[in-house]
Amino acid sequence: MIVSLIVAASTNNVIGKQGQLLWNLPNDMKFFKNTTWGMPVVMGRKTYESLAGGPLPGRFNFIVTRQAGWDPHHEKAKVVPDLEQALEAARETDCKEVFVIGGGEIYAESIAIADRIYMTRVHAVVEGDTWFPVIDEKQWDLRSDRGFPADEKHAYSYSFQVWERKK
Ligand SMILES: NC(=O)c1ccc[n+]([C@@H]2O[C@H](COP(=O)([O-])OP(=O)(O)OC[C@H]3O[C@@H](n4cnc5c(N)ncnc54)[C@H](OP(=O)(O)O)[C@@H]3O)[C@@H](O)[C@H]2O)c1
Repeated sequence: MIVSLIVAASTNNVIGKQGQLLWNLPNDMKFFKNTTWGMPVVMGRKTYESLAGGPLPGRFNFIVTRQAGWDPHHEKAKVVPDLEQALEAARETDCKEVFVIGGGEIYAESIAIADRIYMTRVHAVVEGDTWFPVIDEKQWDLRSDRGFPADEKHAYSYSFQVWERKK
């Protein structure tokens, strides 16, 4: 099973502020949905709580928390006590790829064991309080990089990058 991180980060690696995202990029939302559809997704408890509509539909949702007895208030959200058990549960779905979807704490822990990073690089320097780790180019190869300009629906230009861990 491929372990992938999927993230949207500003040029200065900011991914969130006060529990929320910092932009609305409809094409990135579509990319995220299409890429993760049908697959297991792993997220931190805080990211889960930031989702307006509960678990993501059409995907196996695994929520990581250290709080015994924490209740996601939704039967489709499965609670796991650490990242290792999240990946084990994801493996049991028999899917070919698992997506770690954030946030900052979970990315920081999982980048060491990830095989692939889907990075939407948002071409802006923004202030926030949550970051994606710097991608170390000694360890990661940029395999594709497709850029798109800002337009009436997208306040910033952005690019869809795929990084693979060097063998
Ligand atoms: N731009 C993007 O692509 C993107 C994607 C996702 C999220 N975000 C943003 O990121 C921010 C949230 O990130 P965050 O770093 O504050 O929180 P987070 O990573 O979503 O969640 C952190 C929580 O996860 C649990 N956790 C983390 N590591 C664990 C471990 N090893 N074992 C068990 N539980 C563990 C803990 O929950 P307990 O406290 O319950 O124990 C911890 O408080 C928000 O602003 C959100 O909008 C951005």
